[in-house]
Amino acid sequence: MREYSLARTSNVRKAEELFTYLQKRPKTEMVGLGLIYGPPGLGKSRFARQTAIQNDYIYFRLEATMTAKAFAIKLLERIHQHFGMQSLKVRGTGSEIFSRVTDILENYNDIVIVIDEIDYAFRSQKILGSIRDIVDETLTTVVLVGMTDAKSKLLALDSHYFDRCNFFCEFKPMTKDDIKLLCDEICDVKLTDPLVQHLSKKTKGNIRKLVKSLYSIEDIAKERNLTTISPEHMTMRN
Ligand SMILES: Nc1ncnc2c1ncn2[C@@H]1O[C@H](COP(=O)(O)OP(=O)(O)OP(=O)(O)O)[C@@H](O)[C@H]1O
Ligand SMILES: [Mg+2]
Repeated sequence: MREYSLARTSNVRKAEELFTYLQKRPKTEMVGLGLIYGPPGLGKSRFARQTAIQNDYIYFRLEATMTAKAFAIKLLERIHQHFGMQSLKVRGTGSEIFSRVTDILENYNDIVIVIDEIDYAFRSQKILGSIRDIVDETLTTVVLVGMTDAKSKLLALDSHYFDRCNFFCEFKPMTKDDIKLLCDEICDVKLTDPLVQHLSKKTKGNIRKLVKSLYSIEDIAKERNLTTISPEHMTMRN
């Protein structure tokens, strides 16, 4: 199994468009805020992290218990890392630390920050407010990543602001073609079409479940030295 590859499923292609659109926007006319959202296990975080690594974006995940100050500290640390600045112990109040974040970001027009698990910010108006300030006061592109109801929750919390979010991308269950593409991309063994079909039904397009099944499939293939595997090989094992 090729563990770190990123198969270009239809969700991935749509999400790539989000980044392209936001980065090509007329930055002084339009805020750079996007949201990727959808049910668990569809590859939102994998996409966000890999894209950030490949393109030198700043990526980080919110944590369940994060306060607004902890958010500011983590963001400042990530920005220091990004610019190769020495990270000294961060001191000051939350708003002082956050001002340092915006002071740095104001000097650049091509920074992209990806914030995963944005749902944890729904309890903290302060964190959402800080994100809003980055988007309003700087030319930074901010892409939020969250669960299915992230879009409606953001709009309910602050419709005034978040309806300015200018690219929403919903991750949907993978199609059969996506599953085939992913199997071809990450598996060391070739799966026949009926097996792909079977997996599509069984996993209902959820990548996390699919990857789990693919590990067992690869084990069977290895045990029997198979280069191609079909549903019959699976039943023989049970
Ligand atoms: N495009 C992809 N190519 C290859 N593997 C992938 C891809 N997307 C996801 N995966 C695999 O599926 C697993 C689940 O993906 P991920 O954790 O990104 O889902 P998620 O949508 O962020 O879920 P959650 O909402 O629970 O955070 C990953 O650990 C990875 O193994
Ligand atoms: Mg995730």
